[in-house]
Amino acid sequence: MTVLITGVAGFVGSALARRLLAAGESVVGVDSLTDYYDPGLKKENLATIPGEGFTFVGQDLNTADLDALLAGVQVVFHEAGQPGVRKSWGEDFATYVDANVLATQRLLEAARRAPDLRRLVYASSSSVYGNAQVYPTSEDDVPSPHSPYGVTKLAAEHLCTLYARNFDVPTVSLRYFTVYGPGQRPDMAFNRFIRAALAGRPIEVYGSGEQIRDFTFVDDVVTANLLAATNPVPPGAVFNVSGGTSISVNEVLDVLSGIAGRRLDVRRTEAVAGDVVRTGGSADRIRRQLGWEPTVDVESGLRAQWRSLGGDA
Ligand code: UGA
Repeated sequence: MTVLITGVAGFVGSALARRLLAAGESVVGVDSLTDYYDPGLKKENLATIPGEGFTFVGQDLNTADLDALLAGVQVVFHEAGQPGVRKSWGEDFATYVDANVLATQRLLEAARRAPDLRRLVYASSSSVYGNAQVYPTSEDDVPSPHSPYGVTKLAAEHLCTLYARNFDVPTVSLRYFTVYGPGQRPDMAFNRFIRAALAGRPIEVYGSGEQIRDFTFVDDVVTANLLAATNPVPPGAVFNVSGGTSISVNEVLDVLSGIAGRRLDVRRTEAVAGDVVRTGGSADRIRRQLGWEPTVDVESGLRAQWRSLGGDA
């Protein structure tokens, strides 16, 4: 099978590429190496992807020749996008619209014309729910984003579903709940906490630290993508990919302190606009329809991430 991974130099994209190549698939990866975080880290991610069977294309989805990219491709994993819940206000919003909404719409138009395409898996986000009314939140609960980022992820998800309904583009959307593990983006909580702890710097917590997250280990997210690509699902389907943890940032810091074997220097700063109080997804649908189960608990996953950043554990 030949697959296209957009955002291949990112956290999830590069992990997915490694798994697919190890299974003997051919992978075309596209990434524009934006500077939201150090592009040097993205180049390091690319260097972890074996060369055999892999073709890298350094282009932006908003300008690339997508028909050429999709030629001979059976499955698209659309991981590219502008991430970051807390930075999506003000002038930066235009970047989120370009990278998340316009690029996805352009990809969907090209997907309509792609003769060999069997599945397009879109990396959606738990941020579409905002502060949900019910926990664990299920896919049928009404989305109500709490950040401009969440608005763009939801808009792109709706585009995927309506291209499926109107034009039979075989889309599936996976709502990832805070993905972590080795290779995590450097702006995300666990990566920042671990690097600060290892360097003996203070750990910065936004707000009270009582915010709760359903954290999901990266290998489990990769597995969800593979299942969504290969199993029969109704076009336009939406699935939560939620690790099943319901743990606060303060509780995470207790676990981390146990791994570090010492007390951590924690400083609390202002809460940040756009940050939700809690995420928690029901994984019933993906379990039932795709046979997916989370396999890594937070302590084991955090240990793996700690080791990947140079810590002993
Ligand atoms: C993450 C990703 O950044 C989004 O791209 C993704 O779409 C989203 O998950 C999702 O699940 O949809 P977030 O939950 O904010 O967003 O992930 P983290 O950056 O790991 O933050 C977790 C919590 O830790 C947040 O409440 C945040 O405010 C807090 N935090 C983060 C801190 O207290 N200090 C930090 O230095 C970083």
